[in-house]
Amino acid sequence: MTVVSKAQETYAKQFGEAPKFGAFAPGRVEIMGNHTDYNGGFVLPAALDKGTAIVGASTGTDEVVLMAADFGRIATFSVSDLQRDPQNTWADYVMGVVSMLQQDGVSIGGFKAVIASDVPAGAGLSSSAALEVSTAFFLRQLFPYDREPMQIARLCQRAENEYVGVACGILDQFSSVFGKQDSLLFLDCLSLEHGAVKMGRSDIAVVICDSMAKHALTGGDYNTRRAECMAAAAHFGKELLREVDWDEFVAREFELPENQRKRARHVLAEDKRVLAMRDAIQGVDTDPIKRLLIEGHESCRDLFENSTPEIDFLAAAAIEIEGCYGAKLTGGGWGGCTVNLVQVEAVPDFCAKLSERYTSELGKTAQIYPCRASAGAQVLEL
Ligand code: GLA
Repeated sequence: MTVVSKAQETYAKQFGEAPKFGAFAPGRVEIMGNHTDYNGGFVLPAALDKGTAIVGASTGTDEVVLMAADFGRIATFSVSDLQRDPQNTWADYVMGVVSMLQQDGVSIGGFKAVIASDVPAGAGLSSSAALEVSTAFFLRQLFPYDREPMQIARLCQRAENEYVGVACGILDQFSSVFGKQDSLLFLDCLSLEHGAVKMGRSDIAVVICDSMAKHALTGGDYNTRRAECMAAAAHFGKELLREVDWDEFVAREFELPENQRKRARHVLAEDKRVLAMRDAIQGVDTDPIKRLLIEGHESCRDLFENSTPEIDFLAAAAIEIEGCYGAKLTGGGWGGCTVNLVQVEAVPDFCAKLSERYTSELGKTAQIYPCRASAGAQVLEL
């Protein structure tokens, strides 16, 4: 059953009628550009063929009734008095979008809705952005407002920054709004210039491997890293690391406290890797692709220090398997997933071998998903 039909069926059961409106938004995988977004750098992600559907109708009052079909929970709140409910933290993302729209002067009334998702939560695949963006597209049908797609992505980012309290960049929400079938996406997070990037080879599959190890962005690590990056930029008299000149950084990095030096070196080198990867992926030679992915992972592990032993194991084991064109940590880090580029025909064997080694050597079970770059958020014709 697709997430859309799951949401529709649950809605019909719960509310005794068919939903009137719906929207769907995908999760994302970051191929290259780890923790570069809030530093004003470059990113190269793809939207996933997994996402979140939200269906429903207006209530005609201020009251909201929200149901999460995947875990059978119901949250209720009033749009005229938004209060976070610690028992239903998943509803914060919806409330956050409501709150940002209200701050922007959009009048939002009450609604009832059901949410269903197949983006694994807490795996670093942006289940939260998928929920924020699908909510924004859903609410636009109920309470029409006029915004460009990039404004919607930024509004959803603000929902996460200001309402949920995670100081994330624009990567996840951008990918969820702008996804393109069978293409990677490129974004300059400073100028917001963006475009689709077609892979030069048709035999490369994107395979995601979820270590099933804990990943919680609401933990302080993410915000601490962000603060370290900002402090390093400030040392060079800049607001963002993107504006720091590489040669000047290399000449003066010794002046920084060690943690700031390592974080900044990762971010500045990662920006170069995104540009190199954007070129490499449009070509046919897989050697530079593999080298960039391996370097990217090593940089996360040693400099940004957002990897885990499980993720390191999976990235190292993957590249020893025949047909693997590289593997690295993807997303925020501290658990979650690796992204692997794999020769299409080798995918079944790759998945079996990686899974077997993870279990036999670490005694753990991974979830492995071959996936397809997909389109961005859309309104559902119900
Ligand atoms: C999380 C954040 C993004 C980005 C990545 C790391 O997914 O939400 O904004 O910073 O981590 O690249």
